[in-house]
Amino acid sequence: MQNSRLSSRIEGFYRLQRHERLARLAAASGLEEAEMKELLDSSPLLFDAADHMVENAVGVVALPLGIGLNFLINGRDRIVPMAIEEPSVVAAASHAARLVRQSGGFEAEADPPLMIGQIQLVDVPDMRAAVHRLEAQTADLIAAANAVHPNMTKRGGGARTIKVRSLPTTPCGPMLVVHLLVDVGDAMGANAVNSIAEALAPRIEELTGGQARLRILSNLADERLARASARIPFTVLDSDVCPGRQLAERVVEAWAFAAADPYRAATHNKGIMNGIDAVALATGNDWRSIEAGAHAYAARNGRYGPLSEWRIEHDTLVGTIELPLAVGIVGGNLECNPRVRFALRVLGITSARELAAIMAAVGLGQNFAALRALVTDGIQRGHMALHARGLAIAAGAPAGLVDQVAEQLIASGEIKLSKAREILRSAQGVG
Ligand code: MEV
Repeated sequence: MQNSRLSSRIEGFYRLQRHERLARLAAASGLEEAEMKELLDSSPLLFDAADHMVENAVGVVALPLGIGLNFLINGRDRIVPMAIEEPSVVAAASHAARLVRQSGGFEAEADPPLMIGQIQLVDVPDMRAAVHRLEAQTADLIAAANAVHPNMTKRGGGARTIKVRSLPTTPCGPMLVVHLLVDVGDAMGANAVNSIAEALAPRIEELTGGQARLRILSNLADERLARASARIPFTVLDSDVCPGRQLAERVVEAWAFAAADPYRAATHNKGIMNGIDAVALATGNDWRSIEAGAHAYAARNGRYGPLSEWRIEHDTLVGTIELPLAVGIVGGNLECNPRVRFALRVLGITSARELAAIMAAVGLGQNFAALRALVTDGIQRGHMALHARGLAIAAGAPAGLVDQVAEQLIASGEIKLSKAREILRSAQGVG
């Protein structure tokens, strides 16, 4: 169990060797170093396991696992594992978190974990009568739903209510849709909700006189929203590159661009999802469902917009974010994966709600980092430095030559693999 007094601020972490990073991480997270190493170094997904997970398997792929530092969320330090292939994201998140930390940290929260299961009904003879009968039978339907997963009910979860929606004008005529709202506890909940929707469909057909077609969860999990906010005084934003007030004004302009233009909003939200998906992957969550929910939510007002908002209040830049985050911390695939256990332990997570709140804060921090870079130096400078290192490694540079090759690559202005190979050959005195 993570000690809440420990800090996520580990100076110079990026300069350390891996074994030193693990030692610092162990000290900062309260985990035993040996246990941490075991979780991280145990065999990655073996082909035999992969072969049982998907069809036509021929191999496995891996991603770098980095550590987002400096996060202070609801007054508590959080060390944030992030799995991602894109350079700069982990560094940017940590930098943003450091600035927000100086301003008191993020505030974050998540709704109770209510998932929506949908049952589509066609050929309903009398819509009004069907709605009436469904509403009158709500208590029975909830009892029937809870009988499908008695253990979930025992743990405090279970079906909470139903909502009936009519879709009077679909391309295939009128439809009735029953939403089952299920508290899925610490699970992502897809399996539980899908099985409840399937089990209830025959009874709902009886009550409505219609025919049930789709019985599946909705990824627009808008009963399960997470929110975060950050307040950063101009004084904290002041730098040689740009005075704090000007930086804040430019960040607000960047947000306004996204609020007015879906082309920009998509990229704005992509920056947010860089952070959220990286935590989703590190914690073994279904990032496709998170993406689907986030983007559908971003278009909830009939026009696609930014998931975050930035404004100025007196001498402070204020950022807020809200999005659906259907994430779990329990379930077969999660519990048998040592990397996921590592991630949850290092984060110090005890509930899915807590994880969702942290992910919202990471998304907001990532968004701030991207906007800050975009309104000052531009994104390419930091990006290219890391990209150059990646190319140096891809060209085969040994550890001792990576920095040298990367520096020459940047100086050459040609950040390409062929150039990295050429520089490496010359550094090694070959060819
Ligand atoms: C790149 O992965 C993400 C950004 O494009 C986000 C943004 O433009 O806000 C930098």
